Amino acid sequence: MKIVAVFPESEANKNENQLLSTEKALGLQSFLEERHHELVIISDTATQLEPHLKDMSVVISSPFYPAYITKEIAAKAPNLKLAITAGVGSDHVDLDAALENHISVVEVTGSNVVSVAEHAVMNILILLRNFLEGHRQAVEGEWDLPKVGNHAHDIEGKTVGIFGFGRIGQLVAQRLKPFDVRLQHFDPLHQENILGSQFVPFEQLVETSDIITIHAPLTKQTDNLFDRDLMLKMKRGSYLVNTARGKIVDRDALKELLESDHLAGYAGDVWYPQPAPKDHPWRTMPKQAMTVHYSGMTLEAQMRIGEGVKDILTRFFEHRPFQTKDVIVEDGEIKSPSYRVK
Ligand SMILES: NC(=O)c1ccc[n+]([C@@H]2O[C@H](COP(=O)([O-])OP(=O)(O)OC[C@H]3O[C@@H](n4cnc5c(N)ncnc54)[C@H](O)[C@@H]3O)[C@@H](O)[C@H]2O)c1
Repeated sequence: MKIVAVFPESEANKNENQLLSTEKALGLQSFLEERHHELVIISDTATQLEPHLKDMSVVISSPFYPAYITKEIAAKAPNLKLAITAGVGSDHVDLDAALENHISVVEVTGSNVVSVAEHAVMNILILLRNFLEGHRQAVEGEWDLPKVGNHAHDIEGKTVGIFGFGRIGQLVAQRLKPFDVRLQHFDPLHQENILGSQFVPFEQLVETSDIITIHAPLTKQTDNLFDRDLMLKMKRGSYLVNTARGKIVDRDALKELLESDHLAGYAGDVWYPQPAPKDHPWRTMPKQAMTVHYSGMTLEAQMRIGEGVKDILTRFFEHRPFQTKDVIVEDGEIKSPSYRVK
């Protein structure tokens, strides 16, 4: 069976801890050789994927460095049976195309949720404390205390709105609780008050939060949900954190609302498309603490992702069911409750 895996290029012997790389390839090379399958490792989907479409059975890519499996790609891949997400979040696969072409979409659910929750909390703190300005001054030899203090806040007493209260959203709530914040969340599947967080209607979450942190998947319902009109309903001077997916937030409206001071800051690590082009406006917009997409690929997360991908492949080869939690699409049906939310 031909399996194509997409990883970021890594120079030999340079990043020896990095499993999500062309060099280490999550340890799949020997794993698949032992099982007499062919692994093709590529790093550039634009130029290297096409020749393998006609006979590949499995494609593996991570949300950090995705192979976008569009309708056109799926149509050219008649043998494709399984798209594995080496991580969490399978929106890089066109789920309608997967449904039509009977491609199973399976991810390593839970593998990096702690890693992302920690990152989101860090993002909130970095924004509220005006950390980047303080750090810039330290590095650049300045000591302009009024300039950094003018935008530095305690997180204590603030209202934090969590949009999407699944695995990551709940871990964020648990981690924020000791900061004595007021927690509220919106999630159609979690309308209960739990973990010290109050369920509120979506409009209330948007209009009353000092900080909103996004933890819902990218679906037809959440695509561009945080557009200009919605972000204008957020409190003036509030903050937005997004470690879910870049496309949930309107690219140009966000820049405009940061420039006009309607929003006090934005942080996150997710972009569209990925890798983000050099001229993506989020790279240079003001009041931001963007990073490249790495929150969910700590070394610990990469180990869990590697084990999870091997588990998915083993089940596939042995015709055993996948773990229910991991299945996004199977048998022409969306199975994941998180992706069925209307
Ligand atoms: N930055 C990263 O490295 C990284 C890593 C992992 C996951 N993620 C992103 O975070 C998302 C959430 O991950 P998770 O593990 O918590 O998933 P999860 O499935 O456990 O939780 C997602 C929650 O979002 C809710 N949701 C779905 N549609 C919604 C809507 N329209 N409005 C409000 N809530 C909605 C679901 O009901 C669910 O409870 C993933 O889908 C992925 O896109 C990013």
